Amino acid sequence: MNKVTLHTLSACKKAGEKFAVLTAYDACFAHAVSEAGVEVILVGDSLGMVLQGQDSTLPVTMEEMAYHTACVTRGNQGSMVMADLPFMSYATPEQTMENAAQLMQAGAHIVKLEGGAWLAESVTLLSERGVPTCVHLGLTPQAVNKLGGYKVQGRDRDSAKQMIEDAVRLEQAGASLLLLECVPSLLAEEVTQAVDIPVIGIGAGAQTDAQVLVLHDMLGLTPGRSPKFVKNFMADASSVQEALVAYATAVKEGSFPQAEHSFE
Ligand code: KIV
Ligand code: NA
Repeated sequence: MNKVTLHTLSACKKAGEKFAVLTAYDACFAHAVSEAGVEVILVGDSLGMVLQGQDSTLPVTMEEMAYHTACVTRGNQGSMVMADLPFMSYATPEQTMENAAQLMQAGAHIVKLEGGAWLAESVTLLSERGVPTCVHLGLTPQAVNKLGGYKVQGRDRDSAKQMIEDAVRLEQAGASLLLLECVPSLLAEEVTQAVDIPVIGIGAGAQTDAQVLVLHDMLGLTPGRSPKFVKNFMADASSVQEALVAYATAVKEGSFPQAEHSFE
């Protein structure tokens, strides 16, 4: 794959072409995901749950995120590598600069932070210093204790309006991408239309500019009941590589997600 840049992703949005995002945490899977034509590899702090067996993402450290980011960049074949800033690593602008620098030096091309308009200052400071950001809105798992569980966000009119305002504010602050998790499809569509930057969705319906899933979820490896937005792409595939290609193709063709993977 040709090297994917932010320009590639904006051009996709402009042309109305969907792009695919998938998590990976190591060199081998990063290689496979990249070879499958997935534009963005997310080194998610979901690794706390997927790799470490924690029951939330809160225990994940900066050191662990930098380690897995470095592993992923060694296997990557041209996808954009996005790395999560973990819980409380971006509580102040000073901390944010220092920790984002660590992830960029580990090989990330962009960092992701969870939150709303309060992130505007850090987003601007990072952007001015050459660090692109993706802001994660909706269900923000690092705030699970405040949210009272892993629940769909933006269901009432006030919180929906707030989400649209936050998205616009963060775009103005210099964010390069947005990610919406567990948001009603109609609201996700409104947010996607309200900003010019590409919007990635998970459990956010089919109208966002891109889709993301956790790798182990879409390979059917995660124990227990899967969230509604997950599709097991191994079910109809005869190899991991085939499942990864099926996912990338389904996202680009718009055949994933379906209504059964979305919230109304
Ligand atoms: O950590 C992660 O994998 C994520 C995705 C679920 C969006 O943030
Ligand atoms: Na994450």
